[in-house]
Amino acid sequence: MNGNNDLVEQYKAQHRQSAQWHERARKVFTSEGATHFARIFNPYRPYVTHADGVKKWDLDGNQYIDYVLGHGALLLGHNHRDVVNAVQEQISRGVLYGENHTLEVEWAELIQEMMPGAERVLFFPCGNEANMMAVRLARVYTGRSRVLRFEKHYHGWSDELASSVESGVNHEQVTIIPQNDLDRLEEELSSEKYAVLFTEAGGAFLGGRTPIDLDFARQIPEMTKKYGTVWVLDEVVTGFRVAPGGWQSVIGVKPDLTSLGKCIGGGLSAGALVGRPDIFEPMRPGGVPGHQVMHGGTWNANPLTAAAGIAACKLLKTGEPQQKADQAAAYLRGEGNKILKEKGVSGAFYGKSSIAYLYLGPVDFEPADDTLPPVKNLSRLTDSAMLPVFNHLLLHLLHRGVSNLLGSIFIFSVFHSKDVLDQTLYALSESLQAMLDEGSLKTGGA
Ligand SMILES: Cc1ncc(COP(=O)(O)O)c(C=O)c1O
Repeated sequence: MNGNNDLVEQYKAQHRQSAQWHERARKVFTSEGATHFARIFNPYRPYVTHADGVKKWDLDGNQYIDYVLGHGALLLGHNHRDVVNAVQEQISRGVLYGENHTLEVEWAELIQEMMPGAERVLFFPCGNEANMMAVRLARVYTGRSRVLRFEKHYHGWSDELASSVESGVNHEQVTIIPQNDLDRLEEELSSEKYAVLFTEAGGAFLGGRTPIDLDFARQIPEMTKKYGTVWVLDEVVTGFRVAPGGWQSVIGVKPDLTSLGKCIGGGLSAGALVGRPDIFEPMRPGGVPGHQVMHGGTWNANPLTAAAGIAACKLLKTGEPQQKADQAAAYLRGEGNKILKEKGVSGAFYGKSSIAYLYLGPVDFEPADDTLPPVKNLSRLTDSAMLPVFNHLLLHLLHRGVSNLLGSIFIFSVFHSKDVLDQTLYALSESLQAMLDEGSLKTGGA
């Protein structure tokens, strides 16, 4: 790919100051200078200096339309006025009391009002920790130790929840099965060995890049109940992004426990585990010896995050931000699919609510609408052979002022106006054309 070399050189010329910081970063950080696996990128992602609304800027003065949006936390965009005001007001009152405060109660009450299953609320600094606590509580509650999970569902990086290919994962205790296979699920659950079943709301990866079958999902609560397993629905991405009540309110299910994060903190680091009071009972001091769970955490519900979280949740409770972002995502999916067709590139934009996933490769059929992917074998949606192609697409997009996650995931906010979306579509069209011209993408497929 000669075009690739040219583009890398152009990119480097356009990002000279970022290059210098990248070199410094490589000396202090592992992972090619990145602090998150999704930010590892060849040659390097830009070093961002500031952001506002839907835009962010880098050290070299380049401007980007942002579809990373804090890994999905920023449904309200960068610097939403209500969140900024709340944080500014709180920062002068103190950021960390190490004491009870009213903001934490108000924040939890808002979450309860939005999500009826949230009878009890426990705060954490991130979604990963909420999921770790879910494993602990389920084990104590059931007296069992095994963890059941679905392939490609992401729940963070802790021992029992990291991807199965990683070293250090607690394989002994974990079984991973395909989603959407009810017989297999029942076969495992009926062994009555499992403390907990984890499910990512929407399906595998970031709210459902590989969508879960809704009939299948709706059978989970009854089946887990029958075999005495705690069902944890991970709504760290979907929690209040897809609806004020989360994905569970959209499809009509009530999990035993739900993990939350991202959007509930309005952009500050937040996590929560919510659900049935009896499962949280071991946290009560003076309970049954051997059945107690301790919860510490310097940053749990700190006043600054709680202030931001309250401001964000008040807006999210109205459902208006979700509607706006959903419409923006639907527009990009629809117009993006027209561009793919015009250029003869085989693939599709698909997705629900305010996220759009790009699939490139052979299609099996044209779905009735773009909420569904166009392939029968869903594992093709995350084919690792496509990673270099998406990496290259991302380089083209960054070069043209569009920043997304892993080249293939576009996350939306209230600030994605039609103007901004049309600029994005133009950049997409130019990027695809450049890839066709240089031979890094072929018509009719990848
Ligand atoms: C579905 C899901 N669960 C859990 C997590 C972990 O959350 P955090 O990064 O806040 O620890 C993530 C993060 O992307 C996620 O997407």
